[in-house]
Amino acid sequence: MAAAIKETVSNLIGKFSGAEEAPREPSAEELQQLQKKYSDAGQGQVFAFIDELPTVEKSRLFHQLSTFNPTRINELTEETAVTLEPLPESATASILDSDPADLKKWYDAGLKEVADNKVAVVLMAGGQGTRLGSSAPKGCFDIGLLSQKSLFQLQAERIAKLQELASKAHGVTAATIPWYVMTSGPTRGPTEEFFEKSNYFGLDKKNIFIFEQGVLPCISNEGKIILENKGKAAVAPDGNGGIYQALVTSGAREDMRKRGIKHIHAYCVDNCLVKVADPVFIGFSAAHDVDIATKVVRKRDATESVGLILQKNGKPDVVEYSEIDKETAEAKDPKNADLLKYRAANIVNHYYSFRFFESIENWAHQLPHHVARKKIPFVNTETGAAEKPEKPNGIKLEQFVFDVFPMTPLNKFASIEVRREDEFSPLKNARGTGQDDPDTSRDDIMKQGQRWLEAAGGIVITDAEATGVEVSPLISYGGENLEFLAGREVKAPALLEKEE
Ligand code: UTP
Repeated sequence: MAAAIKETVSNLIGKFSGAEEAPREPSAEELQQLQKKYSDAGQGQVFAFIDELPTVEKSRLFHQLSTFNPTRINELTEETAVTLEPLPESATASILDSDPADLKKWYDAGLKEVADNKVAVVLMAGGQGTRLGSSAPKGCFDIGLLSQKSLFQLQAERIAKLQELASKAHGVTAATIPWYVMTSGPTRGPTEEFFEKSNYFGLDKKNIFIFEQGVLPCISNEGKIILENKGKAAVAPDGNGGIYQALVTSGAREDMRKRGIKHIHAYCVDNCLVKVADPVFIGFSAAHDVDIATKVVRKRDATESVGLILQKNGKPDVVEYSEIDKETAEAKDPKNADLLKYRAANIVNHYYSFRFFESIENWAHQLPHHVARKKIPFVNTETGAAEKPEKPNGIKLEQFVFDVFPMTPLNKFASIEVRREDEFSPLKNARGTGQDDPDTSRDDIMKQGQRWLEAAGGIVITDAEATGVEVSPLISYGGENLEFLAGREVKAPALLEKEE
């Protein structure tokens, strides 16, 4: 006991007095061997000053470096490093610069798949749209078009038009694109009522499958399940990544199987420009024989806050803007200095092969959960009082639909760049925000209609206040079929609802 105390005291004295024992001086051979080990591992720089060090420091450095294995350190560094690369060229295309012959080939092939009843669409409409602040589901929202059509109606009419185009092109009586609408606890009832009240927007009810995604309990900042009221746990939809599990449990996948579906287009309810079941996208994806394909738009500039689709450590992935450094964000495409190297902005617009949906059970449980901090009304378990917090008091757990990408081999993944002004205008925020709000959605539709009309030879009369043309999807799915307007004058803002 006394000896132990003595040893401790002398250790302390040694430490406090700074009297560290001088390390054994290595032999020249030992030093050379260690230096070689580091040089062989590409880490020789640590000996850069060895010749100018006094003997004691030289020995200390020797002993310190002897405790590491530089090869292992290299391995550890590699394990933690993140390497980013754009997707391989073989898996990407851009409709901005594709050969028109390819675009036509993909369109024709995709339309044939529609005519053969092999294409389905899945709509993700389970979100609660908190930023928009409407009490009804987002799909019911009237963005202020002259027709007052809701987002659901625009999408339904595009489906109807495409069915008609495919039927005509291939001489079939009724090409069918079944529409699987994913809702959640909060959006299911009002969505069903809206569809019914709107007479399914003219579509056949038996081809519309409204289903519900799962929920997860909300958790307090202290890690406890929150009670919404005395008899009910607070729950929230499990994120748009809940789509995979929900397709299985709801029977939607089984319904697809029965119908012989081979290709699925999945998209978000909030994009008023979405080209539902776009034949070009279906044809492109089928030609590449992939399991997943994504549409992307060109990132506006290095600072735009968008997620990017790329390969991360050799796997397809989405990287959020906050996860990349300035240098990466600003890097230029080595083949074209006018373009950003990483410019494939994610618009959550996906193609899936049915073959891929067959494997959902194998990986759905592996999708990670992300944390969203929210204000969650609760009942205080000590006092029994109902409380409405003013700042986030807990978390909702969400899966993301694109977290499946890294589980997909690179050769089964493809991406096609589309024009933002033609295909992407999300409704996220309340009116007056000036960005991704009802007015920007409406304007983007009106501008597109005007472009279509002018391209068809029509003359749009505008003034500073009055611009834009709303073209009903029942007349034109993607700008086609407007030749009848050549040479005709249309006074903006206009609504073209019928071909006359
Ligand atoms: P967002 O993440 O933008 O959420 O959803 P949101 O509900 O529309 O809006 P905020 O964030 O509450 O303001 C992107 C897409 O994913 C769907 C949404 O309906 C939208 O089409 N989504 C989101 C689901 O289907 N389920 C979810 O649990 C969450």
